[in-house]
This record gives sequence, C-alpha cells and structure tokens, in this order.
Amino acid sequence: MEQMRKELLALQEQCAALEPDTGTRNAWDTAILDYAHRFVDGLPEGKAYDTGLSKGDKLLERPVPEDPQPVEEVLDFYLRSVDEPGLNPASGGHLGYIPGGGIYAAALGDYIAAVGNRYAGIYYGSPGAVQMEHALIRWMADLFSFGVQAGGTLCSGGSIANLVAICAARDNRELRPAQYEKAVIYLTDQVHHCIDKALRIAGLEYACVRRIPMDALDQMRVDALAQQVQKDKEDGWIPWLVVASAGTTDTGAIDPLEAIGDLCRRAGMWFHVDAAYGGFFVLTEEGRQKLRGLDMADSLVIDPHKGLFLPYGLGAVLVKDQRHLLRTNYYLANYMQDAYRQEMPSSPADLSPELTRHFRALRLWLPLQLMGLRPFRAALEEKLKLGQYAAEQLGKLPGVALRNPPRLSVVCFRLVADDDALSDQRNLALVDHIKQDGKVFLSSTVIDGRVYVRMAILSFRTHLDTVDYALDQIRLFLAGAENAATGSK
Ligand SMILES: Cc1ncc(COP(=O)(O)O)c(C=O)c1O
Repeated sequence: MEQMRKELLALQEQCAALEPDTGTRNAWDTAILDYAHRFVDGLPEGKAYDTGLSKGDKLLERPVPEDPQPVEEVLDFYLRSVDEPGLNPASGGHLGYIPGGGIYAAALGDYIAAVGNRYAGIYYGSPGAVQMEHALIRWMADLFSFGVQAGGTLCSGGSIANLVAICAARDNRELRPAQYEKAVIYLTDQVHHCIDKALRIAGLEYACVRRIPMDALDQMRVDALAQQVQKDKEDGWIPWLVVASAGTTDTGAIDPLEAIGDLCRRAGMWFHVDAAYGGFFVLTEEGRQKLRGLDMADSLVIDPHKGLFLPYGLGAVLVKDQRHLLRTNYYLANYMQDAYRQEMPSSPADLSPELTRHFRALRLWLPLQLMGLRPFRAALEEKLKLGQYAAEQLGKLPGVALRNPPRLSVVCFRLVADDDALSDQRNLALVDHIKQDGKVFLSSTVIDGRVYVRMAILSFRTHLDTVDYALDQIRLFLAGAENAATGSK
C-alpha cells in the first residue's frame, strides 16, 4: 500500500503541468491575446484570400511532442500553417459563400465557457447554462412569433439544425419505414444541399423528392406546388413536408412563405423553413417585411454564425411545439436517473441528439449583453443596403447581367459573352482574378447550367469601401478583357 501511495504521488507530480500555475497562465494569456489583437488589427490591411504556397502541409509533418513547446514558436507555426493560407473568414473582404464573421466578444464567451466547462446538456447539472440557452431560444422564438409552446435547440450550425428539424418532422408525422417511399417532400433546386443530406441521414433517401419549379426571381411557384400536392393526393402519395428557403445561398431568394404556409396548413403538411442565412434580417424593418410568413413554419433554422456574425459553430432550430423535438430526442438512461428525479425544465439533451455538448449559449449571450442588439440591427441594415448598392453599380456595367434584384444581401450576376461557354469561362476567370489580388474574395455558382458570380455581403466587417474595392476589381477585369479584345495594352 505504501508503494502504491508513492507511485500515485509521483504521477501526481508528473501531471501537475496540466494545471499551469498563475505565472505560466499569464505568460500564455499575454502571448495569445497579443496574437489575437495583432490578428484583428491586421484585418483591414490583410487579405481575404491568400493563394500563397504554404498550404498547412507542415502540420502533417509536425509530431505530437512529448515535451512542452514554447508558446511563441507554437503561435508562429500556427500563423504560417493555419491563419495565413486560404480563405480568411474573419476578413470583411470575404464576399463568397455565406460569410460568417467572428465578433470578438463571442470568442471571449467561448473562452469562459471552456475554462468553466459548465455542463450545458442537462438542467440538473448546470441550471444556469441550460436556462441561458432556453432564454436565447425564447428570444429567437419571439422574434418569429412562434408562440408559447415553441422550443428549440442550439446546434453547431445550419446543417445539423436542418437535420434535427427533418427528424422532428419525420417523427411527428409518425412515418413508418414502409411509408417512406410514398412520402413526398417538396422543395426547389435552390434549397441548400444540407437538406438533401439531412433527408439521407434521416433514412429518407428513398422518399419522393419533388423539385417544384421557380419563378423568374428564383422563388418556389406556389401554383405549381399546389397542383403537385393535389395530384399526389389523388395518386395515393403522402404529401408530407415542404422545405422553403428564406434566403437561398445562391441568390438570397425568399420563397413565398405566407402562401406556402397557408397551403401546408390546408394540406396537413409540415412546413419547414431554412432561414439559416436570411432569418436574422428579421431584426430590420425591411427584413421583417420580406420575411413575413415565417411565423407559419412548423420548424425553422436560423444561424447566429451567419446572421449574427458569430464565429463558426452556432446554428439554431426552432419548432412551433417543443414536444416535436422531445418526441425524437428524449430518452431516459439508468445512469442519468438523478437528473430526472424531480420536475425540472426540459434540458437541451432532451431536445437534440447531443448529450455532452459545448456550452455554446455563452458565445451568443455574452456579445448580446456586452454590445446590445442595436449594432447588430444596424449591421444587418447596412448589409441589405450594400447589396442594393452593389447591384445598382453592377447593373451599370456593360456586359454584366444581374440574376435578379437582390432580395437580401447576396448579389448574383454574370458576365455575358457571345456564347454561354465563353461566358462561363469569363465568370470563372473573374473569380480567379479577384482571388489572385486577394483583398476581397467572391465565389461562383452554377444556376440552370450557367456559371454565375456571387457577392455575398454578410460579414460585419464588410462596409462601403469593401464593396467599392470589389466593384473596382470587377471594372479592372472588364477593362482588361476589353483591351485584350481590341488588342491594346
Ligand atoms: C441557406 C443555408 N442553409 C444551410 C446552410 C448550412 O449551414 P452550415 O454551413 O452552418 O452547416 C447554409 C450554409 O451556407 C445556407 O446558406
């Protein structure tokens, strides 16, 4: 026994480094905060995309060391391997895909959450962490007038939030596997691909997906939807789910939510809206008008790591009736019995597939408390106006055709040429040209078989000067092409 005690004390001494003393913590804090501040302060002058040679490959060669490495060397290696190459999503010049942002206060929220390591899965473990999530879900549910029965959960992002919603829709309808092949899902070609993925993961790969035609504004045609639903009913199918988009990724289009909601109610279908990108525009007057009908959804996805500019890692799913999430996710296990011995508010673990989870509410709650909602509203309004401004300016350029007037803050356009193939090449060349300069970053997409360029304005760091810079780059590219065509230099 004495020997055992000696060995234990020796091991205790060896693992003491896992609890660094105040001096070491201070040294790390200083170095890491210094790094973070240099990073943020350097953003205005830095690139949104770095095509440099370093691609992070050195990470594969670097061993996991047995002994500690100096913090400065580790940070320097990190800078060169991770923060320099590729896309910088923290840059205001990020105008591709759907930009996030990374507001600083959210990082501080993550920091405290990790240091305290509150167990945010079950009320019994950390009533405060759980109530913070409930308070945020309540706030979001109220934003969309979801009513008192509403519930929801914070997820890692929009894809998982959509998956949680699809599973709730499946279970609420009590669909049995034998019925899957008769169940019909209605959506458009512009729905985010995470919906197709969610359907497959939810076991619904062989359900019938009807792609409803769109109008000239890339919105679902409700007349076509109504006709299809009617026909499906007559033919013995089970019209089950409509997935609408409130801000598509490609063009920012918003499906006619009120009309779809109305149809779903009449036909007894579940109405799901993917508002991962567009949802938080509801905080602006213009957005509120454009998003009318969201309150009719049975389930709704909104992403704070898009529309509230948080660092990646926060999506949310809301359901009209919390029981719909409980139906899918609630389980009791023997080893959890203490957590459920008395009546308590519901727990995130009962509303989502996760048990142990990151205390992710704090990364949203802290910024909202420290800064208030006002600057968020202003930034969202600014993004809408920047989208309109960019579209107006692009519309004036010869040889540029807008896909349609932007509904939100994604501007989708195409450089036109004599034939489609040439035009496709020029649009891809424009994206490459802009990437080489790197100060701003645009992405391309394919709609109806044609290449389009997208300017997606959502970062809180994107302002008028950023959009002007992007427009100048497009003008430069057009002038270069013009000169090449006329043979001048
Ligand atoms: C409309 C829409 N839905 C869902 C997603 C998927 O969200 P995430 O990337 O957070 O998983 C995206 C991502 O851009 C999106 O734009």
